[in-house]
Amino acid sequence: MQLTFTEEQEMMRKMVRDFAQAEIAPIVEKMDETDEFPREVINKMAELGLMGIPIPEQYGGVEMDFTSYIIAIHELSKVSATIGVILSVHTSVGTNPILFFGTEEQKQKYIPKLASGEYLGAFALTEPSAGSDAGSLVTRAVKKDDKYILNGSKIFITNGGEADTYIVFARTNPEEKGSKGVSAFIVEKDTPGMTIGKKERKMGLNGSNTVELIFDNAEVPVENLLGEENKGFKIAMANLNAGRIGIGAQALGIAEAALEAAIAYAKEREQFGKPIARQQGVAFKLADMATEVEAAKLLIYRAADLKSRGIDCAQEASMAKLFASTIATKVTTEAIQVFGGYGYTKDYPVERYFRDAKITEIYEGTSEIQRLVLSKNIFK
Ligand code: CAA
Ligand code: FAD
Repeated sequence: MQLTFTEEQEMMRKMVRDFAQAEIAPIVEKMDETDEFPREVINKMAELGLMGIPIPEQYGGVEMDFTSYIIAIHELSKVSATIGVILSVHTSVGTNPILFFGTEEQKQKYIPKLASGEYLGAFALTEPSAGSDAGSLVTRAVKKDDKYILNGSKIFITNGGEADTYIVFARTNPEEKGSKGVSAFIVEKDTPGMTIGKKERKMGLNGSNTVELIFDNAEVPVENLLGEENKGFKIAMANLNAGRIGIGAQALGIAEAALEAAIAYAKEREQFGKPIARQQGVAFKLADMATEVEAAKLLIYRAADLKSRGIDCAQEASMAKLFASTIATKVTTEAIQVFGGYGYTKDYPVERYFRDAKITEIYEGTSEIQRLVLSKNIFK
């Protein structure tokens, strides 16, 4: 097992790190305050090819491996978890479902625009009454002539108010219960009958657009059915596997940023006549935080490497997401502790890291759902 990155992967890390420092770090505080979608940053990322990292060149992507894509999410999230999730949703669950399950015509029509960043992608699975139990979704799609007519609503959709295409899941066979009888659709922004509802005001991840989608006799052309009718749930699950590595990388980036801030502060801050880093209570805390971040890094990059090599990694992806999100919440809480009262103020970024970290334990399958998936596999 190789534990080193290739030259290309290191180049990706340097490029993204430099970009994040130059273009994101200066606006990150303002974005947190205003909750404005960072369209300019996304446009610049598009110019660098970051909106289509693992997408084949034939469809307009830069065709780098999955690990390189995870490196980008990790490094972006270290500076802004908001930018990390925008890219993760756009790629893992906004573009990849079309790449892996679309017809050649669908791929030609949508992927070059998504990979170039001309289009932004979104993924709409969750409903008000169907979150963890995604298979209980009730949005209906009824085939009528050359269209499917969609009725229902989706909630908490990342990139929702800004996206150009949505991967939407709806029930096509009401006789079937649970995850069976669900189909996936590619829905375009200006689809008649689809409107953007409430925009969520969130604890963190400000700037990331999270909205409700309402379907009131929305008309989706039959050619926009993705994969086979009634087989859509598996499309959601298969793409969430890779998505979960991305959210794990987002958690890792946040945790690493908090750790680095805490180390720097502990070296500077003096109490009882010496830097607090020389108080064993603080130094041991930092040692634990560093160990947890390193362990998360290994799990994330191990899952990414398996995925890059085309090896099934659902179990490793779940473990990586579960562990990285858990330690991100813990490490960011401890970072505030290291900063003392200053950590609780907006003068330092650690309170933002803490607010941003929490969501990684919730979306793309809560920690409880990761444990459910893992335990099912363990006892198989
Ligand atoms: N990979 C591939 N296939 C999978 C799979 C996986 N990880 N998990 C399940 N499947 C397949 C199963 O094999 C099964 O196939 P068959 O019908 O052929 O047997 C089918 O999917 C149904 O599986 P289950 O019977 O296990 O389904 P379930 O109804 O019991 O639910 C669940 C499974 C794992 C709990 C699922 O509902 C789940 O993942 N819930 C969490 C929802 C979630 O992650 N939402 C994320 C929304 S997107 C988001 O949040 C975006 C963002 O972060 C910004
Ligand atoms: P619930 O399912 O109601 O869960 C509530 C609690 O019960 C949780 O702690 C959960 O773990 C626990 N629980 C539920 N079932 C079990 C069980 N069987 N065993 C043990 N514990 C259980 N969705 C999308 O489709 N697309 C998106 O782009 C998207 N982006 C999001 C962005 C944000 C900021 C947020 C907040 C959510 C987003 N989501 C998105 C939705 C997200 O995936 C769901 O919130 C998540 O899957 C949990 O569903 P829920 O909120 O309905 O919680």
